[in-house]
Amino acid sequence: MSDFETVGKITDFEDGQGRAVPVDGRMVAVFRTGEEWFAIDDLCPHMGASLAEGYVEDKMVTCPWHAWRFCIRDGKWEDNPRTRVDCFEVKIDGDDVLVREKISAAEE
Ligand code: FES
Repeated sequence: MSDFETVGKITDFEDGQGRAVPVDGRMVAVFRTGEEWFAIDDLCPHMGASLAEGYVEDKMVTCPWHAWRFCIRDGKWEDNPRTRVDCFEVKIDGDDVLVREKISAAEE
């Protein structure tokens, strides 16, 4: 199980937008929506666009290249929920934003 990594300050993240940050050797898209925080794999499984660059609305991010839509809560692709990108946990500690890979049910 990986530890939480600090990825920036709260003020580094704009409300309603994504930001790509490195976590444990890969890029992760962190989204801030009001007081809620979410993080999914930044790499779109279609052709590799950065999902952090996508448009966010109603807890969905639209890939900037070909408009595939993914849920930022659980990483599921809207057109086929059996396809999903990895999810990450976000923790706020003071002003710091921390992220780690989500523990699957089998590991808990
Ligand atoms: S690269 Fe994301 S939809 Fe094509």
